[in-house]
Amino acid sequence: MCGIVGYVGQKQALEVVVAGLRRLEYRGYDSAGVAVIADGALEVRKKAGKLANLESLIGTDPLPQSTTGIGHTRWATHGGPTDSNAHPHVSEDSSIAVIHNGIIENFAELREELTAAGVTLSSETDTEVAAHLLAATMPAAGGNLTDAMRMVCQRLEGAFTLVAIDKAQPDLVVAARRNSPLVVGLGEGENFVASDVSAFVDHTRNALELGQDQIVTITPSGVDVITFEGGPAEVTPFTVDWDAAAAEKGGFDLFMLKEIAEQPKAVADSLRGRFDADNRLQLDEMRLSDVDLRGITKVVVVACGTAFHAGMVAKYAVEHWTRIPVEVELASEFRYRDPIVGPDSLVIAISQSGETMDTLMALRHAKAQGARTLAICNTVGSTIPRECDAVLYTYAGPEIAVASTKAFLTQIVAAYLVGLYLAQVREQMSAADISDVMEDLKGMPQKVDLVLDTVEPVRAIARTFANSTSVLFIGRHVGYPVALEGALKLKELAYMHAEGFAAGELKHGPIALIEDGVPVVVILPSPSDRLHDKMISAIQEVRARGAVIIAIAEEGDEKILNFSDHVIRVPVTPSLMQPLVSTVPLQVFACEMATAKGHDVDQPRNLAKSVTVE
Ligand code: F6R
Repeated sequence: MCGIVGYVGQKQALEVVVAGLRRLEYRGYDSAGVAVIADGALEVRKKAGKLANLESLIGTDPLPQSTTGIGHTRWATHGGPTDSNAHPHVSEDSSIAVIHNGIIENFAELREELTAAGVTLSSETDTEVAAHLLAATMPAAGGNLTDAMRMVCQRLEGAFTLVAIDKAQPDLVVAARRNSPLVVGLGEGENFVASDVSAFVDHTRNALELGQDQIVTITPSGVDVITFEGGPAEVTPFTVDWDAAAAEKGGFDLFMLKEIAEQPKAVADSLRGRFDADNRLQLDEMRLSDVDLRGITKVVVVACGTAFHAGMVAKYAVEHWTRIPVEVELASEFRYRDPIVGPDSLVIAISQSGETMDTLMALRHAKAQGARTLAICNTVGSTIPRECDAVLYTYAGPEIAVASTKAFLTQIVAAYLVGLYLAQVREQMSAADISDVMEDLKGMPQKVDLVLDTVEPVRAIARTFANSTSVLFIGRHVGYPVALEGALKLKELAYMHAEGFAAGELKHGPIALIEDGVPVVVILPSPSDRLHDKMISAIQEVRARGAVIIAIAEEGDEKILNFSDHVIRVPVTPSLMQPLVSTVPLQVFACEMATAKGHDVDQPRNLAKSVTVE
């Protein structure tokens, strides 16, 4: 949610910053802007719409050469997506330019204060107040931008990453962080700040994780980090373990297609190295003892969107294996309903980005109640894993398409590993049983590969229904969250009414939606599963009312042929593993439907990848 990048070094700042923004555009694409310092003056270009609009503006109105610059790609919160609301925002005296990710909650008071002091604000954003406050604070800070940033941050409420440059200090970029992402890239004779490492991974893989309420000042030769109070700050160096090619399309037309195709590898990588020398499952970072885990009486998963669906899938497996009750909560609802959690609860935050504000706030609430916390996350160095007692990383590699695909499969795998870990520590499953499940999991990359090899007919089916006004998805047991996920993908990509239902619930209301020609996607369990016949009954109920059935069914399920209009095959798979194969055709279905409708699949309207506001 908003991408920010800052550069200081020897190279052309504009090129570095725009290339960084291209990598960060998935975080927001309502407008984009850059500022550089040249000949003692600030030069700013900004434009509503995608980065391409900014690039063509710079083509007609070029920027001077400069080795210091900042850039921003916006997901609008305060103020619509217009040129004037685009970042950077500049102080009235044109001395300071600021970019921002997050929300300054007390911006209305600060705006009033500035207006009363005679400042004219030229945008509707919360960010602009920071530019004016910085300029107003510079005299008290002795002209030192870092000190001014420190003083201003102490007045701001909410969540923010701010990056500023000052025309009087041309070799310096200052950034501050509270509850919004910010990482530092450490180069040779150059340094970077950015929302995530993809912005600078072309230049360096050496990075620093910052903590909360810290300010970093970068120059070509150094990086200095302090707290908002001005004291020394703790930072954690890390090396990015993927290269620049991982953040490119790699020959695919769309990031989403590439990421769908990467799923077998993502699942395999997320399973790798999970056993120690004694053949015991291990997590990446574990600050919980076996005694803590034995004392757990309930598990609560907090997550949003696709990650929430992964949690719903995991509930079926984790309860089955551990016999511990598992609640799955929308993170945005969690802390507002006074949830019952305490030291005997394990709260698992699932988040691809590790920065989702709703999930972070739910996690903090759980911690405040004394709960044990564990993160399942795809982004090393992000906030959610930093704040948890234990971490299990998903090794999906960077996920750039806004619609989550490979992260979902790896989140299920990771949550299953946590379930098995709990079952191991609590001696709820024998080593042999755990090893059997692990064998099933290890077989999944090959099965996902098989789905990908046979997925072509899904595209034709998707095109057939491109003009439908609504698509319904139904499933039971783990097929239910898969139905929800299939519907979410279709909504966000094809902008189409889509809903997922537990098939047993149809007759309690939703069946009224069925009329002639409504496509219903049915996620079927194996024919040997006791729910198979129940699903066939659900199909008959909707078919009798005119529904067109698209069935996702196992190889060898002959019975379904009599009850469906289209059949999409997935390999024979143990029930709990089925979401790992049955979700894949639904991803392809939504992607193809959106393509048929001429939508921007990687950057669907109104959305952004990393939702860092509540
Ligand atoms: C949907 C999608 C979103 C995210 C949700 C949580 O395709 O991508 O629903 O799953 O915003 O994001 P993370 O996992 O980063 O916390």
